Formats: sequence, structure tokens, C-alpha cells
Amino acid sequence: MKIFLADVQATLHLGIKLGQILTAGSVILLEGDLGAGKTTLVQGIGQGLGITESIVSPTFTLINEYIQGRVPLYHLDLYRLEPQEVAALNLETYWEGIEIEPGIVAIEWAERMPYQPDSYLRVCLTYGDNGDRQVEITPLNCNINELFVE
Ligand SMILES: Nc1ncnc2c1ncn2[C@@H]1O[C@H](COP(=O)(O)OP(=O)(O)OP(=O)(O)O)[C@@H](O)[C@H]1O
Ligand SMILES: [Mg+2]
Repeated sequence: MKIFLADVQATLHLGIKLGQILTAGSVILLEGDLGAGKTTLVQGIGQGLGITESIVSPTFTLINEYIQGRVPLYHLDLYRLEPQEVAALNLETYWEGIEIEPGIVAIEWAERMPYQPDSYLRVCLTYGDNGDRQVEITPLNCNINELFVE
């Protein structure tokens, strides 16, 4: 099911809801073209977790870690990497949460991953016709409409 995101606020709002309900160990695979709203959604997730620090795109840093919220947020961006480089990163360290404190792992350009964790939330963002966006989330173990209740 595709959900309409009319403006930036709608994308942020969805992220805030996710940040409020997701538990440590959740992996969010963010897919969508350049500028589709992946970082914006993660900024919302950060707000929902109670992070006041500003969340900036990790395109060059690869990963940014925020430990100020309800659970840690690990924000990755694989845009600049080839799949074999992604494989060498041992990303499973993040979702196994053995060597690091379990948190929410949000990965932009997840299409570049040669392997996925056992369970994850896939969030696909696409452009609408009027400068808006659409999002498809699969699977979601809750009523998706709950995410949009103010
Ligand atoms: N629902 C929306 N409607 C219109 N514009 C939006 C919406 N959501 C986000 N935007 C805007 O889209 C632009 C790009 O957003 P963002 O940086 O989050 O995209 P991205 O997918 O992370 O891009 P990149 O591929 O470069 O990482 C920003 O200016 C943001 O404010
Ligand atoms: Mg981005």
C-alpha cells in the first residue's frame, strides 16, 4: 500500500511515529531516488526517539551514531559504495548488537546491500507528480493508519 506524503512535514511526521514505536534491533532499509526523502525520514525518527542533536546526511561519513535518544540511532548511507565494499563493512555488527549497544539501524541506499538481516522494515520513497512523495512500507506489524494519528 502506498501512502501519500504531501510535504516535508508529512515525511517527518511518519519518521517521528516510527521513532516512537520501533524497538532496539530494528533495521530500516531506505530505498528511493536521489532526494526522495530518506534523510528527512531519519530526521523524523531521531525526533521520535528524543534526539535533539541535528541529524545530517552521512553520505560522506558513511555512518553517524546518535546515543542521546530512547535507544541509539545508527544512520548509514551506502550511496558512494559498491556492493562488494558494502559486504566488507560487516554491517551485521549493527543489527546483531553484540559488540555495540542495540539500536535502530537506518540505512539509506539499502539497494546497495548484497545481503539483508533476517528481519527488517523496507521503506520505499518515490516522487509524486506535484513535488510530493509516496511511501511504501513492508512489512509492518501494526495498523499503518496508527502511524498517522496525531
Ligand atoms: N513529502 C515530501 N514532499 C516534498 N518534499 C519533501 C518531502 N519529503 C522530503 N522532502 C524534501 O526533499 C528534499 C530531499 O530530501 P532528503 O535529503 O531527505 O532526500 P534523500 O532521499 O535523503 O536524498 P539523497 O538521495 O541525496 O540521500 C529535501 O529538501 C526535503 O525537505
Ligand atoms: Mg539522504
